[in-house]
Amino acid sequence: MQTIKGTEPSMAWQLVHESVRSCVGNTPLVRLSRLFPQEGLEVYAKLEYMNPGGSMKDRPARHMIEQGLREGKIHAGSHIIESTSGNLGIALATMAKLYGLEVTCVVDPNIAPTNLRMLRQMGAHVEMVLEKDVNGGYLLTRIAKVHQLLERIPDSYWINQYANEYNWRAYYEGTGGEIVNALDRLDLLIAGVSTSGSIMGTSRRLREKFPHLKVVAVDAVGSSLFGATQGIRRLPGIGASRVPELLRREEIDQVVYVNDWESAMGCRALLHHEGIFAGGSSGSVIAAIQKLVPTWEKGVSIVTLLPDRGERYLDMVYDDAWVEALEEKGAVVS
Ligand SMILES: Cc1ncc(COP(=O)(O)O)c(C=O)c1O
Repeated sequence: MQTIKGTEPSMAWQLVHESVRSCVGNTPLVRLSRLFPQEGLEVYAKLEYMNPGGSMKDRPARHMIEQGLREGKIHAGSHIIESTSGNLGIALATMAKLYGLEVTCVVDPNIAPTNLRMLRQMGAHVEMVLEKDVNGGYLLTRIAKVHQLLERIPDSYWINQYANEYNWRAYYEGTGGEIVNALDRLDLLIAGVSTSGSIMGTSRRLREKFPHLKVVAVDAVGSSLFGATQGIRRLPGIGASRVPELLRREEIDQVVYVNDWESAMGCRALLHHEGIFAGGSSGSVIAAIQKLVPTWEKGVSIVTLLPDRGERYLDMVYDDAWVEALEEKGAVVS
């Protein structure tokens, strides 16, 4: 096992933060040696769910808003608009409190009820689109709604996480920087993908220190992000029905597909073996690693990201009836 450099825990406790802003980042890196005890295999998980908003999206939300402020595109009183039904909306609502901004999240009926309640509690405005688009989903209607709101609301600004360069840069400086400071050897980065901000930013920083690094993207069965046929996806988090502007396909070495059932099993294995209660996409990366383990030679060092907490998934991956319903439909191994 390699030496991991870290800060002295007693030092961390002495810090007093001016606001929740500076509590974003510096998430723990934990070796998953119970779940992956194989000789020579080192799997390190970055607990991104320990950010104050409960997900890694605190990083891009803070960076995209602060850069917007720096560049004069937004200021106190501006109105932030984004198409988001989950973690980014919650993170934007947090940062909006600190900078005196209004936030509107454009969502669709697939939003998890808990997320809808959280967004409202946090003071975000919610615009629900009800009409499906030509593809049978809501993506295009949500984007059309964003454009309508931009026209209607004065001093409004679209965050546009799929194309905003400060999305991936937040992970380049944050997640990637923290991992290179902690590890001396690394062969693989395995991460779930939706906007691709986290995998692009983290891998770019890691490759500066570990030039031979291989980057494995984990996508959901049913997502067309990497050109596969679109299908039913029940878990929020990874996957997309479009190709993000931020994605540079040539920087990804391999794509592994994981379905909802496999992700649920991955979540449960993480909880059972490591006591880590994480969200659906954390289960997806664990399932992907389990699929890949037999293909690796001895002596592989891996880092992965665990993007959000388990609580918001109690009615999904942690609900036996939800898992059994997938099993009845035969939606088991992909
Ligand atoms: C829970 C979860 N996991 C993974 C991802 C994928 O991250 P990215 O958008 O950086 O590709 C997201 C993005 O929304 C997410 O919410």
